[in-house]
Amino acid sequence: VHYSTDYVFDGSGERPWVESDQTAPLNVYGETKLAGEHAAELCARHLIFRTSWVYAARGANFAKTMLRVGKERSEMSVINDQFGAPTGAELLADCTAHAIRTAQGKPEVAGLYHLIASGTTTWFDYAQRVFAKARDAGVELAVTQVKAVPTSAFPTPAKRPHNSRLD
Ligand SMILES: NC(=O)c1ccc[n+]([C@@H]2O[C@H](COP(=O)([O-])OP(=O)(O)OC[C@H]3O[C@@H](n4cnc5c(N)ncnc54)[C@H](OP(=O)(O)O)[C@@H]3O)[C@@H](O)[C@H]2O)c1
Repeated sequence: VHYSTDYVFDGSGERPWVESDQTAPLNVYGETKLAGEHAAELCARHLIFRTSWVYAARGANFAKTMLRVGKERSEMSVINDQFGAPTGAELLADCTAHAIRTAQGKPEVAGLYHLIASGTTTWFDYAQRVFAKARDAGVELAVTQVKAVPTSAFPTPAKRPHNSRLD
């Protein structure tokens, strides 16, 4: 079982990527994940799951970073031109367990699948949602102003995909 990513694509367009779309990674992370897919395919009984924007109660993730920074600062800027679907680690774990059980009886299901929650959002709308949910739960936040900004507002050496939608 190999967990892969939408970063195997170039992030162009607005259509959700399907499994058979041409890969063209934008950065080293995407290149290495694609190399991982090819390595996993050397095993006849493989399951490759491309996912995106993973969150969980444990570990580091965007939602937890927003909560931390939202407690520290009154103003924040969040990117509003990258699109994707936050996907819970529990969903990935459940689907993987079902898929392994199915594959044990039906080895022909081996292959590559996109595995993400439904819907689409941006980091900006996702952050707003995190803040609203936190406030509903009684969490005190310092943040009062959340500004929507383009990717270009945060220059980084690694390019990131604008379109992380997976079908
Ligand atoms: N996070 C996302 O949004 C996302 C999206 C798409 C795909 N993925 C893929 O999902 C997988 C997990 O991502 P993540 O974000 O959960 O990463 P993560 O938080 O960095 O967790 C990586 C885990 O792998 C373990 N690990 C790293 N190197 C290892 C090694 N050489 N031997 C054994 N264990 C090792 C780490 O152990 P320690 O804790 O001991 O360091 C850690 O538990 C990755 O393959 C990633 O490419 C993630």
